[in-house]
Parts: sequence; C-alpha cells; structure tokens
Amino acid sequence: MKEQEKKRDIIYYISRFDPERDDGPHVEQYTVHVVSGMTVLDGLHQIKHEQDATLAWRYSCRMGVCGSCAMLINGVPMLSCNTQILDVSDTALTLAPLPNFEIVKDLVPDLNSLFERHVAIEPYIQRDDKEEMDTPTGQYFQSPHQLEAFLQFTFCIKCGCCMAACPTMATDPEYPGPVALAQAYRYNADSRDGGFESRKKKVACAHGVFSCHYAGECSNVCPKGVDPARAIQLMKKDLVLDYLKLKKKQKPSKVLGPPAGEKKPPIEFPPFTVEQK
Ligand code: SF4
Ligand code: SF4
Ligand code: FES
Repeated sequence: MKEQEKKRDIIYYISRFDPERDDGPHVEQYTVHVVSGMTVLDGLHQIKHEQDATLAWRYSCRMGVCGSCAMLINGVPMLSCNTQILDVSDTALTLAPLPNFEIVKDLVPDLNSLFERHVAIEPYIQRDDKEEMDTPTGQYFQSPHQLEAFLQFTFCIKCGCCMAACPTMATDPEYPGPVALAQAYRYNADSRDGGFESRKKKVACAHGVFSCHYAGECSNVCPKGVDPARAIQLMKKDLVLDYLKLKKKQKPSKVLGPPAGEKKPPIEFPPFTVEQK
C-alpha cells in the first residue's frame, strides 16, 4: 500500500477538565479514523464534529505560525497542527494541556502568564532619540553580521512549549521562563538597542536568569528551532562581564541617512485600516 493510502484507527486518550465543574482532570477515550497526512489537530476536529462537541482546545492558523495549538502529545510539548498523527503513533496517543500553566478547559492553557512575563522584560527597541523613533528620517544601520547576533530568537511564536518543558518553571513560579529571557537577550543583542541597563533590573535578580540551570529542555522542544537555552547562557555571560566592568557598552546604531548633499524625504506611513482609539 502506498504511504498516502495508509488508514488506521488511533485511540486518543484526552485529558478533560472543566474548572467550573470538575475537581480535577480525568482522561476520556476517543477513536479517530486516521489517513496519512492527518495532523493531531485534524483528529481533534474529527472528534468534535462526530463524537463530542464539548471538547475544548485552541488553534488558529493551522500552519505552525500562530503558536495557539501547543499541547502535550505523548508527554512532549508540541504544536498539534504541525504534528502528523502517524509520525507519533501507530495505535494510540495521549493529549494533555501544557504543564506550568493554569488550565482554562480541557487542552486550553491560560497563556496570560507567558505574555505578562514577556511584557515585563521590555521586549522593544529602547533608545534616547525619541524624536527619530517617533518620526523616522531613515533606517537605523544594522549590518548582516549584527542581524545574525539575534535573528534566530525573532522566530519565537510564543507557543509556550519551552515554558511547559522547563524544570525551573515547574519549581519556581517567579522565574521569568525561557520565552521572556530569550526575548530579553534578543533585544539586548540588537545593535539598534540601548536597553541593557533597564532590562538588567528585570533579569539579574533573585529568581531571574541565574535560576536557569541549563537543562536545555526549552531548546529541545521548540517547534521553530529557537534556542532559548543559548540566549539565556549568552545573557548570563553578558551580565557577569557587566558586573566585572568588562562589558563593552553598546552604543545604539546611528540613523542611516541619505548620501552627503542629498535630502531624504520623510518616510510616509500607510493610513491605518482601523480607527485608532
Ligand atoms: S522559544 Fe520556541 S518553544 Fe518557546 S515560545 Fe518561542 S517558539 Fe515556542
Ligand atoms: S535551559 Fe534554563 S530555561 Fe531552558 S529548560 Fe533549562 S532551566 Fe529552563
Ligand atoms: S494552529 Fe497556529 S501554530 Fe498551530
């Protein structure tokens, strides 16, 4: 039989929990009729349409971009839209919500704690030239080499898989976690940024970056190939050098102006498509 014609019945063992009704999670069993190419998310849709409309999970893009559909698949944090059923099992699979988050219902984790931690480390370019930032006259200079210093960390889709896998997250509720810490490094390492001192207060503290004991599980499970463990170790190095007064101060890069004698027209932004409040 050709690979694309493979058909099989797979048992889904799914953790169910409604905080408004249940004392704790329990497991329910469903049979999914699987053909080659079906994703774990497709199987959930089949269950919802044909067997149990009360089952809850979260998804949006169905193509590994939005980060909504992460869950524990056979005990490993993964994107359900990006995981083919027959790649992970021939007979049965278990599904549970991401650990280290509150559960909204069934397979839906409450990701507020991820976004609150992310916002707390100031994930944006910080500079003194506010006027240039607000009304830019050109682009800030950045060489390809400087871009490489942080590029991979920009691929993070905030799915939460790394936070679910992190043993420090499991034991220390105040730990910022691999998403926030990797994004703090992403901005610190950006040659256009000057926010190291400000972010330092958020990460070089009790329960901060030095609580990471480099298990590396965050990087092992990342579906986008981001290496948060590496970002965290590089940030530790920067902080130690800073403490020893050996870190070279980063001067945010300059505006790349027009060639001498040429006046660059101001950049015109397209109009907003929704009303600004
Ligand atoms: S670093 Fe990877 S695993 Fe963690 S939130 Fe970003 S994309 Fe997901
Ligand atoms: S390397 Fe650090 S952040 Fe990543 S899983 Fe280990 S303890 Fe958590
Ligand atoms: S549904 Fe968007 S990443 Fe899976």
